[in-house]
Amino acid sequence: MNNHIGFIGGGNMAQAIIAGLLNNSREGIKISAADPSSICREALIKKGVSAYAENDPVMANADLIVLAVKPQVLTALLATLRPLVRPKHVFVSIAAGTSLATLRHGLGDTPQPIVRVMPNTPALIGLGMAVMVSDRPMENSIQTEVTELFEACGRTLWISSEETIDAVTAVSGSGPAYFFLMIESMVATAIKLGLSVEDARLLVAQTAKGAAAMVEESDVGPDVLRQRVTSPGGTTEAALEIFESAGFAGLIDRALIAARERAVQLSKELC
Ligand SMILES: NC(=O)c1ccc[n+]([C@@H]2O[C@H](COP(=O)([O-])OP(=O)(O)OC[C@H]3O[C@@H](n4cnc5c(N)ncnc54)[C@H](OP(=O)(O)O)[C@@H]3O)[C@@H](O)[C@H]2O)c1
Repeated sequence: MNNHIGFIGGGNMAQAIIAGLLNNSREGIKISAADPSSICREALIKKGVSAYAENDPVMANADLIVLAVKPQVLTALLATLRPLVRPKHVFVSIAAGTSLATLRHGLGDTPQPIVRVMPNTPALIGLGMAVMVSDRPMENSIQTEVTELFEACGRTLWISSEETIDAVTAVSGSGPAYFFLMIESMVATAIKLGLSVEDARLLVAQTAKGAAAMVEESDVGPDVLRQRVTSPGGTTEAALEIFESAGFAGLIDRALIAARERAVQLSKELC
């Protein structure tokens, strides 16, 4: 690999990944990006990235190519990239719902592995969760390069089978929105109970952050952590009884299954 990473599509996710790369810059790394939008190109140029309206210069210079366009335009894009594909290119797609088979079919049978990634929105602030799967075994150096690309804006996980990616989409891809809903509801009630908007947001966000950090750092599971803060007859128990009587766990179960089913359906529509 020549240490040159190219982005096809320079929108929100591409810019988040690029910001992470620039903050954790490796020696001699070069970044280029192609995007039809002059607003995107200007934002990229301000960051020191070589930005082009056409895809050709990115394809000519970079070895690692990140496909960062919306899934709806990806199939048409693959057809235009196909004549520009060289044996050196390793493609990494972050497009939701587009399978490895669709990517390989669109790009032609390149000798390199193709990687599909499901990132999530907190990548925008360096706290993303990116789950990756490739369609062929890959050299360690390539796997390290792809991992470092996404570690620059959060945590990473490789999975061995693409079958799990729809579940991943339901958990970490769509997951930030579930927590936003919980936070939104808690903030609304905190305000109803007399707190100011700012105080309510501070208390709820810091509590969510602290709870997530405890789950990460603790050697016991979230069930034990919950039991430890629930004194018999206390305030937490009063609230948890309401959640349980309304079928909270079942509701989460149904929501995630619905998200997974929708991901399966969307993948079929994009085939
Ligand atoms: N945002 C998220 O939280 C998130 C999470 C998981 C996965 N993803 C995936 O990440 C991908 C990118 O999402 P995003 O939010 O970054 O979208 P975005 O902000 O719309 O960025 C995509 C960019 O690609 C450009 N583009 C369109 N056609 C192109 C072409 N043929 N060649 C080069 N560039 C082209 C678009 O330009 P125009 O606007 O001018 O068309 C746009 O600037 C999507 O596939 C999405 O599924 C996003």
